[in-house]
Amino acid sequence: MARLKLGVLISGRGSNLQALIAACADPSYPAEIVRVVSNRPDAKGLDHAHAAGIPTDVVEHGDYPDRESFDRAVHAHLEAAGVELVCLAGFMRLLSGWFVETWHDRIINIHPSLLPSFKGIDAHAQAIAAGAKLSGCTVHIVRPEMDAGPILVQAAVPVLPDDDEDTLAARILTVEHQCYRLAVKLIAEGRVRITGETAIVDMPPDAGQHLISPPAG
Ligand code: GRF
Repeated sequence: MARLKLGVLISGRGSNLQALIAACADPSYPAEIVRVVSNRPDAKGLDHAHAAGIPTDVVEHGDYPDRESFDRAVHAHLEAAGVELVCLAGFMRLLSGWFVETWHDRIINIHPSLLPSFKGIDAHAQAIAAGAKLSGCTVHIVRPEMDAGPILVQAAVPVLPDDDEDTLAARILTVEHQCYRLAVKLIAEGRVRITGETAIVDMPPDAGQHLISPPAG
């Protein structure tokens, strides 16, 4: 079976990219990464792509007069590579309406909270400030509004009384990596149907052990 062709957009560390690279290294995984695009030349994630032999492009947003012209340049790279699904993995740019519509239902994002709670860049701080006892992560289809769109996979992670942003982020991050791998696999296997603003997911029974992490006793 042909593998789903992924384009991964990054801006920084790239640990979710690395998790996808590791998943794709298994020949039975139904997707492959054909392009990594960064808006920052110094993104650490580029090193992961180079080490895995994945072609990369750097498209610096400062070189473009507005959001859409930057997005059109990114789009040209993705299209040239034959990308079928765009994976945002710590990509710190809001996408234009043009880009989101062009890739309608074919862009996914990972966010470190249980959406729709705690949108935005300071999700961990918001969860702690709210006194939330559970947070987690969400993989969702991208819509023009930030951190919104049909939800594909979520995992819950406890917020402990002495957590700071860093300890909570680290606990959530390990689960992010599992959720992103799972979400891509579900899409590649045709297990996701989007109806309006809801995703109907045919979740295999063995898929979800990590969806509450640490596992509920
Ligand atoms: C992750 O926490 C992700 O949820 C958020 O940005 C962070 C990116 O981390 N969107 P990395 O670059 O994948 O390590």
